[in-house]
Amino acid sequence: MDYDIKDKKLAGKGKLRIEWAGRQMPVLNLIKERFARERPLKGVRLAACLHVTSETANLLDTLKAGGASVAICASNPLSTQDDVAASLVLDFKIPTFAVKGEDNKTYYEHLHKALDTKPNITMDDGGDLVSTIHAERKECLREIIAGTEETTTGVIRFKSMEAQGVLRYPIIAVNDAKTKHFFDNRYGTGQSTIDGILRATNILLAGKNFVVCGYGWCGRGLAMRAKGMGANVIVIEVDPLKALEAVMDGYRVLPMAKAAKEGEIFVTVTGDTSTIRGEHFRAMRDGAILANAGHFNVEIKIPDLEAMAKGKRRIRDYVDEYTLKDGRRIYLLGEGRLINLAAAEGHPASVMDMSFANQALAAEYIKKEGKKLENRVYPVPEEMDKEVARLKLDSMGIAIDRLTKEQERYLHSWELGT
Ligand code: ADE
Repeated sequence: MDYDIKDKKLAGKGKLRIEWAGRQMPVLNLIKERFARERPLKGVRLAACLHVTSETANLLDTLKAGGASVAICASNPLSTQDDVAASLVLDFKIPTFAVKGEDNKTYYEHLHKALDTKPNITMDDGGDLVSTIHAERKECLREIIAGTEETTTGVIRFKSMEAQGVLRYPIIAVNDAKTKHFFDNRYGTGQSTIDGILRATNILLAGKNFVVCGYGWCGRGLAMRAKGMGANVIVIEVDPLKALEAVMDGYRVLPMAKAAKEGEIFVTVTGDTSTIRGEHFRAMRDGAILANAGHFNVEIKIPDLEAMAKGKRRIRDYVDEYTLKDGRRIYLLGEGRLINLAAAEGHPASVMDMSFANQALAAEYIKKEGKKLENRVYPVPEEMDKEVARLKLDSMGIAIDRLTKEQERYLHSWELGT
């Protein structure tokens, strides 16, 4: 079996962490039990480009239980948990190509290794696997039925490929399932981003000016949790509707040029490039801390910071101190990569439970129905999304009400008024 990981000796620790995460993933476990009985993915080759974490390991184990043969590469150079990667190879016999801190060249070599397994289904997080297939590995298209996409950034890329008529196979946008982005993006990113910032810096958030750039689902979760820790949250937006929501959720909304002067901690979750750039670094206070929780490391314009700095040193793990020519210091966390996965462990398992339940069910759906799909981006079928919510509530021991016959009739009628 081919693989490239940091150190096989880490497998023991990784296996225990995978087991620990699995205890918080009841919905995925139910799917795994059914998959083991029904083997719906028998004969399928699946290549996953996902963050290599203990939660992802549970997903891969579920797909294997369903009969798939699986290979994985990292979806970010700094998000791999090396102990998990080792256990995937040794305990789960899954070809794994991921080393935390790998350079860009190795990152892409790993994507190619996963593609060498000739997948029928791709599972992407951010779109790099699919774009590599379209740009350099077109021969893979012959074997591929369809793919899934885990995150907002990837869905945006694939929708633009669809709009330009260049998408060559169907994609299920797992990110767009309500049981994914309402929970993973909001509560997962909210908590794990704070976790990453605190593990990297050990700063006190109470009383700090905490600037959240972007008020999508990730930004909302982050603002909510930062407020809960006693920070003064400032939101940056370009969308008037989202900005208005942020105002009425109780935050100050400022243009970046103003927030740059006030902020003590800045976190980008816009999904867009150059959200914080030279003009903003120039206005910042001495000691400003910058982190990114968006998918790619483009949201903070690091080349501007590099160009403005007269010195740079690593002051702590995941904390680079840039000293500007006038003596001010700016601290960049996790090299501007996803701070929740770089300095912490990513989203907690109980939220990944729903995201990855959607992934597993989407793979099953692709095996059953994929050949009927066109080269478009599809939502997760609504019934699947609702089923994941039902199972999650069940697993939490939470019962909900049902409509009475009278209520059903009322909701479907138009005659009844005042
Ligand atoms: N994305 C964010 N958190 C994650 C996790 N724990 N595992 C896999 N992908 C993630």
